[in-house]
Amino acid sequence: MTVRTKLIAGVALAAASLGLASLGLAGAAQAQTKEVQMLHWWTSGGEAAALSVLKKDLAAEGYAWKDVPVAGGGGDAAMTALKAMVANGNNPTASQMLGYTVLDYAAAGKMGDLTELAKSEGWDKVVPAPLQKFAVSDGKWVAVPVNVHSVNWLWINKAVMDKIGGTEPKTFDDFIALLDKAKAAGVTPLALGGQDWQEATMFDSVVLSTGGPEFYKKAMNDLDEASLKSDTMKKAFDNLAKLKAYVDPNFSGRDWNLTTAMVIKGDALVQVMGDWAKGEFKAASKTPGTDYICMRFPGTDGSVVYNSDMFGMFAVPDDRKEAQVALAKATLSKSFQSSFNVVKGSVPARTDVPDTDFDACGKKGIADLKKANDGGTLFGSLAQGYGAPPAIATAYKDVVDKFFNGQIKTSDEAVAQLVKAIDEAK
Ligand code: GAL
Repeated sequence: MTVRTKLIAGVALAAASLGLASLGLAGAAQAQTKEVQMLHWWTSGGEAAALSVLKKDLAAEGYAWKDVPVAGGGGDAAMTALKAMVANGNNPTASQMLGYTVLDYAAAGKMGDLTELAKSEGWDKVVPAPLQKFAVSDGKWVAVPVNVHSVNWLWINKAVMDKIGGTEPKTFDDFIALLDKAKAAGVTPLALGGQDWQEATMFDSVVLSTGGPEFYKKAMNDLDEASLKSDTMKKAFDNLAKLKAYVDPNFSGRDWNLTTAMVIKGDALVQVMGDWAKGEFKAASKTPGTDYICMRFPGTDGSVVYNSDMFGMFAVPDDRKEAQVALAKATLSKSFQSSFNVVKGSVPARTDVPDTDFDACGKKGIADLKKANDGGTLFGSLAQGYGAPPAIATAYKDVVDKFFNGQIKTSDEAVAQLVKAIDEAK
């Protein structure tokens, strides 16, 4: 008996023991359990294609999908919507969430408990330990990781690269030289969307490249004050300032996927973005190596700055639990972890999924993750909810945005503001 049929049997049994079956109410109760209400911010072409893999899997099992999309990369708008829903006692079955946000809701007693399913499925043996830190709270599984993304990537248009005679940059200085080459050839060098989370996601990579792995961990995960106000951090801000010279005049406020489209179409050379960008290349039928190049942000080879989309499983009434369990089970199934992540651009959140169906970038992503996890160079992205709790991530994004847009003028002032903002957010 599968968990689902067991559960259906369980529902029928409970209904029978209450004498409801004879009144025909068992059927009604069952119908209500057959819907998954999911809040998420997956509204771009690549994201929607990935999500439909899940919708299809659940439909095949007989579950309806009630979509609650809240557009806005990085999820800030979605998290505002979630807060309102939960405050009104209107918990979704599940919501896309990033690491520390899950822990916040768990601490507030808002999450459900998937531990029984986790045990029968053996999740603790296959989900990488750094993810379990965020999916398990107080010994209970409260969320299910859908994927592992990483942010320290470059996405380069191959034809443009060939046209300008560029080579893959190994260091930050090489990167600047490459951007100069594109500029001289009259191509927009750096595709960037000027939204705080996009700038900060790029800055995660700049910090790692500037300071190295040890420094990244101390500053961006341990929030060590000496590191945050160090000369190395100032240098990271100075490096960020250099990148400003290479964006196009319309960068302000542009969505990340429209920005990826600039690279896909050859209107720009390169985007620094998490590997959800690859989902857009895939949706546009582009092939790595032929149409585009994926490589680690220069100077960050060997390290992986990750985030993982979790489906936070909310406390729901008993009649909605069956659908929640079905969703959780489908999400962490081996086959789904392959088929979904192939489309999404991310890599599986289980260690036992073969890389067979993944393209060259996906294969590299899987190998890099394993190496970084084994070697202690896997770090949480501060911009993407895995470096520190949400209030601190927000403070970080705000300072980076103000610096990038000139409201904070020097790197001295930037580090001072950063330390202050983080302190206040603690
Ligand atoms: C990230 C999320 C990705 C992708 C991206 C842009 O926060 O982890 O899955 O959706 O935002 O929307």
